[in-house]
Amino acid sequence: MAKQKFNLSLLGQLFSGLIVVLASVSHCQTSECPQLCVCEIRPWFTPQSTYREAITVDCNDLRLTRIPGNLSSDTQVLLLQSNYIARTSEELEQLFNLTELDLSQNNFSSIQDVGLTNMSQLTTLHLEENQITEMPDYCLQDLSNLQELYINHNQINTIASNAFTGLQNLLRLHLNSNKLQSINSQWFESTPNLEILMIGENPVTGIVDFNFRSLVNLRSLVLAGMELTDVPPNAFVGLDNLESLSFYDNNLVRIPQKALQKLPNLKFLDLNKNPVHKIEEGDFKNMLQLKELAINNMAELVSIDHYAFDDLPELTKLEATNNPKFPS
Ligand SMILES: *[C@@H]1O[C@H](CO)[C@@H](O)[C@H](O)[C@H]1NC(C)=O
Ligand SMILES: *[C@@H]1O[C@H](CO)[C@@H](O)[C@H](O)[C@H]1NC(C)=O
Ligand SMILES: *[C@@H]1O[C@H](CO)[C@@H](O)[C@H](O)[C@H]1NC(C)=O
Ligand SMILES: *[C@@H]1O[C@H](CO)[C@@H](O)[C@H](O)[C@H]1NC(C)=O
Repeated sequence: MAKQKFNLSLLGQLFSGLIVVLASVSHCQTSECPQLCVCEIRPWFTPQSTYREAITVDCNDLRLTRIPGNLSSDTQVLLLQSNYIARTSEELEQLFNLTELDLSQNNFSSIQDVGLTNMSQLTTLHLEENQITEMPDYCLQDLSNLQELYINHNQINTIASNAFTGLQNLLRLHLNSNKLQSINSQWFESTPNLEILMIGENPVTGIVDFNFRSLVNLRSLVLAGMELTDVPPNAFVGLDNLESLSFYDNNLVRIPQKALQKLPNLKFLDLNKNPVHKIEEGDFKNMLQLKELAINNMAELVSIDHYAFDDLPELTKLEATNNPKFPS
């Protein structure tokens, strides 16, 4: 009995596998697939992790210097990672249903050359690991449904004040590993729904008061690998929902006590690898939600006040290892 059941379900699996194969074959026959690319229906997850199926054209890793012609206009996911594309012409214009476009690891040096018009369905855009140097005003303004923008690991040194205009639905922004020297609060006035901002690994030497004021929905902020020596008292005003903050690998010489007081919902704080000398009473005052605090790899740390961690009712994890000058 058990064996028969097993056989039946195996047959069922074979049968449904056959249907998937037939479906993708017929898709490729009715609408041409660019040479060497793979065209098929694949599982796809929305930025909220909802399962979907998407008409996918996979042209990854083909040494292409231009976007293939004859892309089917019902394409939903277009994968062009790891090619040599530096500009597009009209190839993307008819793809009204495109939801994800991956142009990471290509040769773009200007965002205008990406040709991002008429893509009202686009939710995810990958432009990481190109050679883009600046983001001018309104450069993404037609992407009103964009939820995720990955433009990290480029050469961006300038972002105009209105560069993100139109991105009112953006949830996730990766700007890390670029050449930015400062962070302009006006950028974020267009993106009030942002939840995750990664902007570390930029040569930023200071942030200013009210730097992130409009980001009331931000949950995670990564300021790792910058050159911050101090944080002004009102830098984080407005970040009422921030839960996670990383200062990993900066030049902080003291805990930015006053700035941290402005984060009522902070749960995770990473201060690892900063040359902090002393941790004092009151440094973490009123951080009622703080769960995890990391103060590892502090080469200059010589003292921790007896009462430094006193008012932290929710603290479940305190890491303080590899602090060579601290007497243990
Ligand atoms: C598109 O398809 C047509 C007809 O199948 C063909 O003649 C043309 O060369 C193709 N264009 C490109 C850019 O591949
Ligand atoms: C785009 O998607 C809609 C809704 O699923 C569909 O009705 C329409 O035919 C699609 N457009 C193209 C060009 O495939
Ligand atoms: C693309 O960029 C790489 C690395 O920057 C470079 O070596 C290559 O010559 C470029 N290729 C084209 C076709 O521009
Ligand atoms: C697509 O964009 C072009 C120019 O950017 C515009 O002329 C055209 O009306 C747009 N088409 C649609 C359907 O939005």
